[in-house]
Amino acid sequence: MSVISMGKALIDTVKIDLKANKIAFTKEIKKATKKAHVDLERKVTKEIKQIKTEADYIKMLKVFYHYFQPLSEQIDRFITADVLADKAQRRNASSLKHDIEELGGSISSDASPQLPEITNVHQALGAMYVFEGSILGGRFVIEMLKKRSMKRGFSFFQGYGEGGGEKWNYFLTVLNQHAESDEAKQEINVAASQTFHCFSLLF
Ligand code: HEM
Repeated sequence: MSVISMGKALIDTVKIDLKANKIAFTKEIKKATKKAHVDLERKVTKEIKQIKTEADYIKMLKVFYHYFQPLSEQIDRFITADVLADKAQRRNASSLKHDIEELGGSISSDASPQLPEITNVHQALGAMYVFEGSILGGRFVIEMLKKRSMKRGFSFFQGYGEGGGEKWNYFLTVLNQHAESDEAKQEINVAASQTFHCFSLLF
């Protein structure tokens, strides 16, 4: 075997390892948070089914805003462009503020929700997994809202539109790179579960 083909074989092996590892942790966190997702999805669906007017929809968006706004501030302390290159281009809680205002509502600052513990980059990634993942269910949420005659204020649930799949995959790649030890994996999983749980408490 030539040096070049040995090099290529090595690169291919590393690629396969990275892919296998990515799949492994992606599956692990999805499994670890499956029940929490089902519980939350059930509660959010129930909330949506009670929406009759735009005022009701504003009320629901405010619950999201008053959780994700302080949560995003905690995440931003650790997830900078050094960790996630496109961080500045990612959706944040300001899209919720935008939707609330488009619908004629306004933001108050009297909420102080229970938040997950975020004291390092692993916990911040776990919380961000939940926030970014919420985009995946967004199109189903929009469908449900349209059935309830809502016509605007969808930017938060729309997420990234066309480029969504790529952005999700890139996030998972970075998440996976940081899941480098059992301790790191544990911290990410616990933070993700807490992020789901704390949000569920608000419904
Ligand atoms: C009625 C509300 C919701 C519905 C119907 C829903 C539905 C879904 C669906 C179908 C997926 C899988 C999409 C895919 O694999 O392409 C998904 C993934 C996900 N959702 Fe939701 N979702 C809802 C609410 C939420 C909320 C409020 C959050 C977080 C705050 C959330 C967090 C996630 C996460 C983290 C994933 C990624 C799971 C993974 O593949 O690792 N979802 N959701």
